[in-house]
Amino acid sequence: MVNYTNHDKSAAQRAEVVRLSDDDFNFICTFVYQSTGIVLNANKREMVYRRLTRIIRDRKLKSFSDYCALLKENSEQEKNYFINAITTNLTSFFREEHHFDYLTEHELPQLKKLKRVDSTGKNRLRIWSCASSTGEEPYSIAMTIFEALKQELNQWDAKILATDIDSNVLAKGKAGVYDFKRIEHLPLALKKMYFYQSNDGNQHYVKVHEKLQNLITFKLLNLLHSWPMKGPFDVIFCRNVIIYFDKKTQQELFSRFYELLTPGGLLFLGHSESLGHYQQYFECVGRTIFRKPK
Ligand SMILES: C[S@@+](CC[C@H](N)C(=O)[O-])C[C@H]1O[C@@H](n2cnc3c(N)ncnc32)[C@H](O)[C@@H]1O
Repeated sequence: MVNYTNHDKSAAQRAEVVRLSDDDFNFICTFVYQSTGIVLNANKREMVYRRLTRIIRDRKLKSFSDYCALLKENSEQEKNYFINAITTNLTSFFREEHHFDYLTEHELPQLKKLKRVDSTGKNRLRIWSCASSTGEEPYSIAMTIFEALKQELNQWDAKILATDIDSNVLAKGKAGVYDFKRIEHLPLALKKMYFYQSNDGNQHYVKVHEKLQNLITFKLLNLLHSWPMKGPFDVIFCRNVIIYFDKKTQQELFSRFYELLTPGGLLFLGHSESLGHYQQYFECVGRTIFRKPK
């Protein structure tokens, strides 16, 4: 009888049950790139294997080749499952806090002064969180707006658009229910003001306040496709997503963001992201904060 250690056993089971050949891996990389813009390379092979074997088991398929054949049938539903499985959705409330500080200390006070009144007689504010994942980013923006504008908010026509390519994370964002641990690090005043707490057995949940939800519209949107909104936006958060794209896709997106931003509008990127050669069209006003010239 063959005696496997746990590690050997899972390796042996993997080898038997689902083998990821080079051809299948290459097909998957191309499929991911064409459908999402995400570039996968050899060091993501283990991740692809882990994330897709779940679907292969759910579909009761025998191999990656069977799964690739299914993807080639081009069903929208299958493609959505695939995209939801392959995207990386890491996020948190007030991630890269200096961006929210910049909104509070510079941008919102400046927009207050400008008083750009729209047809409703209110001060217009439009913010887009373009890879919003499970919603922590747009909710952090909403809390920042509430905290900065306080009672004055009723004189504002403020809206946040939150979009993502992954329908699962969008649904989670829309629901606004989180494990308490996700907000543990927030100041008590924010926790009290913007979250309801609930205990469900051993699990400690929080639900975001409707006043935050009322500011946000969650929509499915692939950044590679055409964008239905006309803008202009005062602020665009495009954080920790372009890092998955190649230079060509990044530059195309920067040019489209530029068009959609109001003169003087802001673009926030993630901590390890940069504008590359597009930097010449923006003014850098802080760490990964860029302003379209007026
Ligand atoms: C790492 S999360 C970043 C979340 C948030 N912006 C932050 O910085 O915390 C990246 C998100 O980008 C989304 N994404 C990846 N490719 C996309 C595309 N082509 N269009 C729209 N969203 C995409 C993923 O689904 C994922 O939720």
